[in-house]
Amino acid sequence: MASPQMNAVISQTDFPGLKLRGRGKVRDIYELGDRLLVVATDRLSAFDVVLPTPIPDKGRVLTQLSLFWFEKLASVVPHHVIQASNFGGQLAPYASALAGRAMLVRRTDPVPIECVVRGYISGSGWKDYQRTGAICGIPLPKGLRESDRLPEPIFTPSTKATTGHDENISFEETVSRIGRPLAERLRDTSLALYRQASEHAAARGIIIADTKFEFGLLGSDLIWIDEALTPDSSRFWPADLYSPGQAQPSFDKQYVRDYLERIGWDKRPPGPALPADVVAATRDKYRDSYQRITGQALD
Ligand SMILES: Nc1ncnc2c1ncn2[C@@H]1O[C@H](COP(=O)(O)OP(=O)(O)OP(=O)(O)O)[C@@H](O)[C@H]1O
Ligand SMILES: [Mg+2]
Repeated sequence: MASPQMNAVISQTDFPGLKLRGRGKVRDIYELGDRLLVVATDRLSAFDVVLPTPIPDKGRVLTQLSLFWFEKLASVVPHHVIQASNFGGQLAPYASALAGRAMLVRRTDPVPIECVVRGYISGSGWKDYQRTGAICGIPLPKGLRESDRLPEPIFTPSTKATTGHDENISFEETVSRIGRPLAERLRDTSLALYRQASEHAAARGIIIADTKFEFGLLGSDLIWIDEALTPDSSRFWPADLYSPGQAQPSFDKQYVRDYLERIGWDKRPPGPALPADVVAATRDKYRDSYQRITGQALD
């Protein structure tokens, strides 16, 4: 294990010499001309609320796993990463805080659609299906059980809400928001990424039940941005424990969500602090997802 000094837990960055562009729920973003510095902190959000307790190593897992996938799937679509180590120049003073958790990326115009792909039926997809027999307007066979594999992966976009929860929308609604050519490109690219990633993960004993991609435009080029197939953006299930007809154990923050349900939190901010055992188990799950998928330990 690396020394705690090298891998400090970071809930929020503070780099006075840099221009802060904003803080997302998990990432702090700085502006450097036509580039962005995206720093994954150890914050965890659940039910769209950032909890007060950080998860050690979470930011590094998100960044290192994203880098793994960006590179592995680079032939499908170009990604936004310029550099993710050896931060020099004006970043040099912050090098130790940035280590392992930051990426220097090309600044794009984000497309305001969350590109969700589902290979299995779970979460909001399962809820929609039970109510309507469809997800995002895509009709599905009758009689599916929770967590069943879908006949084929489906593209189920949602809006990128600036406040509140994202909302599932149909493909035609996506077309009316961003135009058909771009909507089709998003769909085809997302499905291609999902298929290739699922194949890799399956060989390593992991089911990618669903995942969410974000894309940006640089001129007319479509660029894969944000994070790539992490436990925050995806549902990862251990294949050996897969058993449809119920919710699945997972390598993501479902463990925290279950805890929050158990204590009866009303899901309104502020979120409750997490006890040490929940923090430790969650940290293990994030680290384990990295190790299983990449075949390497995080440190
Ligand atoms: N290359 C890029 N160009 C422009 N914006 C980017 C790029 N990469 C990531 N972003 C944006 O940076 C933010 C990442 O922060 P974070 O993931 O913490 O946000 P979030 O709370 O999930 O917010 P959101 O729901 O808006 O994505 C996102 O808004 C994402 O769209
Ligand atoms: Mg995000």
